[in-house]
Amino acid sequence: MSVPTAVLPALPHWETTPDDLRAAVREVKAALRARIAASGRTVEEVFAVIEERVAAQVADIAAEAERGEPVWPVIDYADVAAGTVSPELLAKLQRRGCAVIRGHFPREQALEWDAAIVDYVERNRFFETYRGPGDDFFGTVGSKPEIYPIYWSPAQMQARQSERMARVQAFLNGRWRHESDGVTWFEPDRDCLYPDRIRRRPPGADSAGLGTHLDPGTLDLWMTRANQAAFRHLFDGTVEQYDPWDAAHRTAGPQYPGSTMTSVFRTFQGWTALSDMDHDQGVLHTVPIPEAMAYLMLRPLLADVPEDDMCGVTVGKVFPANEQWHPLLMNAVTGIPDVRAGDSVWWHCDMVHGVAPVTDQKGWGNVMYIPAAPWCPRNADYAVQVREALRSGASPSDFPAEHYERTWDGRFGVDDLSAVGRRGLGL
Ligand SMILES: [Fe+2]
Repeated sequence: MSVPTAVLPALPHWETTPDDLRAAVREVKAALRARIAASGRTVEEVFAVIEERVAAQVADIAAEAERGEPVWPVIDYADVAAGTVSPELLAKLQRRGCAVIRGHFPREQALEWDAAIVDYVERNRFFETYRGPGDDFFGTVGSKPEIYPIYWSPAQMQARQSERMARVQAFLNGRWRHESDGVTWFEPDRDCLYPDRIRRRPPGADSAGLGTHLDPGTLDLWMTRANQAAFRHLFDGTVEQYDPWDAAHRTAGPQYPGSTMTSVFRTFQGWTALSDMDHDQGVLHTVPIPEAMAYLMLRPLLADVPEDDMCGVTVGKVFPANEQWHPLLMNAVTGIPDVRAGDSVWWHCDMVHGVAPVTDQKGWGNVMYIPAAPWCPRNADYAVQVREALRSGASPSDFPAEHYERTWDGRFGVDDLSAVGRRGLGL
């Protein structure tokens, strides 16, 4: 039996980054524990509910891998476009929280885009003028991804504003509950056009990969009023009702700033392959369990974590997931299958992910990052800045202020926007 939420102790909250992080962590942890205790269960009991749910998925994934079945759902773009994705595959997408969309774009189209990006950066002497990585956001996870801070090539914009992209984004947004309590949290059929970078990793490359982490926020996940509402079921005695696909309270609240921090709400993160990539060539891995987020949120409240520590989460650094605090999750880390140029890869915005290391990579490893970021108050705010950056060729404000493209020749312009592109920018 649960206690009515109204009688539970209120939580302290910080709508901007607290001045004293350690003091704020101590305060919010004590308050979260008190709230859970007042709901009639101990923190350990609540955590055990989630641990059991996650452990069942971990076992399921291990069994699937053992049987040689693909853990990642693979969905044909043709089925997305025709609305004929099978109920079994939809259920698997819900369970795993990630998918490959096969043939999202024709392979030739993707290879053409890849070549066009090379032409665009070479023509504008990018390699001669490159000043090194503009951020150290991934400093804690020991990595150096081969990222081009390029946002406005015609190839990237053509993909972002294509009908094919809009269809897949609407399909993915539709996996979420976007309305509740009389509020439309986001519009599933309309995406905001979110400019992100590209990665091109050449044949023969050695890469240390990217440690497992997650992207939806840092300490703000526990500390802002909106996030406390979004994750309310974890703290108010109704943990069984926690639903990783519920967008309630996720699409308007503030986030604490970091040097590379997504200020938009994404239902799924994603990228589109611009080269063929084999599954063992340093590719993306996830912990394909959406409800693992509940595990990550509750874990710091257990007694073995120091009072002023959130399992290593702090502002301005990526949220780490690791063997030290989350060994159960690490058992389920699963890589994507082989992909071909034109396929796209998607994972739930809260999902633990990383990139495997590779030595002497076979073939190219090229991707364009394009997420599903449906229209909502938070994303509409960001669209104002995107419109400005598109006009001037600046780096978008979510990214380091490198601004390579301001003077570049052949940049995509406002006049080149399609109907989908204009809609995605609020024009
Ligand atoms: Fe990430």
